[in-house]
Amino acid sequence: MRDILPPESGRWRRFNDVFADVVERAGYGQLVTPLLEDLGVFTRIGDATEVVAKEMYDFVDKGDRHIALRPEMTASVCRAYAEHRPTTPWKVFYAGPNFRYEKPQRGRYRQFEQVGIEVLGADDPFLDVEVIALAWEFYQRLGLRQIALVVNSLGEPDDRSRYVEALRMHFESVGEGLSEQSRVTLERNPLRVLDSKRERDQEHIGTAPQIADFLSEDAAAHFAAVLDGLRALDIPFAIEPKLVRGLDYYRRTIFEFQGGTLDSAQNALGGGGRYDGLVEALGGPATPGVGFALGVDRTLLACDDEGVFGAAPPPLDAFVVDIAGGRAGVTITAELRAAGLAVDRGYDNRSMKAQMKLANRSGAEFAVIVGDDELAAGTVVVKPMRGDGEQVSIGRSRLVDHLEQHSLNQQPPHEN
Ligand code: HAM
Repeated sequence: MRDILPPESGRWRRFNDVFADVVERAGYGQLVTPLLEDLGVFTRIGDATEVVAKEMYDFVDKGDRHIALRPEMTASVCRAYAEHRPTTPWKVFYAGPNFRYEKPQRGRYRQFEQVGIEVLGADDPFLDVEVIALAWEFYQRLGLRQIALVVNSLGEPDDRSRYVEALRMHFESVGEGLSEQSRVTLERNPLRVLDSKRERDQEHIGTAPQIADFLSEDAAAHFAAVLDGLRALDIPFAIEPKLVRGLDYYRRTIFEFQGGTLDSAQNALGGGGRYDGLVEALGGPATPGVGFALGVDRTLLACDDEGVFGAAPPPLDAFVVDIAGGRAGVTITAELRAAGLAVDRGYDNRSMKAQMKLANRSGAEFAVIVGDDELAAGTVVVKPMRGDGEQVSIGRSRLVDHLEQHSLNQQPPHEN
């Protein structure tokens, strides 16, 4: 688990702001659910899921309830839907931390942050397209270019069960040819063997049956419509027949966004799909659902690698240097802030030299300086810290206008 310090933390907040902007414009409202849920909410994701079987932070609380820190948010959204029964289609987004007891490494943490959306109550394949397109738009807004979208369909539950059986038979026939780890995975969840990156397994994964041959007519038509919609929106994608995703609730469409710059074990920046049976499993009415979650930690690593969406905080407009006791400095700072400017100041009545050093380091466009003479005359000295503008002495009442007129910042300072 990590501390996120400024200025990096500011980047995290802006990341969430951009995400909220993209999805709110598409009619999604924010859902806030508790970090803790009854353990049963997550075990219904399926106990063949690694996240549930091995990675849960669960414990018994003082009231003898078995509860868990959420490992993801889709189950909580479905639990909330079953509880509140909002009108459909219910379009929500979320942002917040999740907890998985994984082996930490670059891009994989025990507490990590996700943003995501879910839509409950609509079966439309073009909704799957909308959901994917919003993630795509968000990546474009961040400036990421090396993103590959891979899609697959797991079919209806019957298709999926027949496929899982066929996979089991295939991998069992290989016997010792499969790596030891994959033989363990096979016992629990044959689909996940397809995820193995081990050299020894590749040949047998290559010859394994493919889900496409097991799709019912309905599932195949649904998938074809999703692909057609992606083409209509010019979103590039690849069909990946071996894509299975780590969570057990998926049916029909699944997809993943892979970053081009990260290690293959951590290259999934986000993913999602349909989970039409999950609300029912959580005690609600049969309700189709589709959505995605994007990992914030990993997406920001990809941003670092591509040199986009940097951590630089919005620049300060002015830094107030007061060497006349501090009282004038505090009022000037307050006036400038009230006028909407971004302003910081020096504290502790430090020397001119020390405060100018701070002004320099702050990146502010102007230093606004008050000494005893200025205090007596009701003036300030304005010194441009960048460019070749002249230092001037002006009356305090003209300060805001002066800063605004002489600013070199073409962009509004807080835009991102
Ligand atoms: P997921 O694939 O388990 O899906 O997680 C989505 C994203 O969260 C991953 O692609 C990754 O970027 C990030 N992530 C997962 N685990 C970690 C970790 N330990 N450290 C850092 N980042 C991590 C879900 O969670 C589904 N709820 C997605 C979904 C929404 N499906 C339908 N709706």
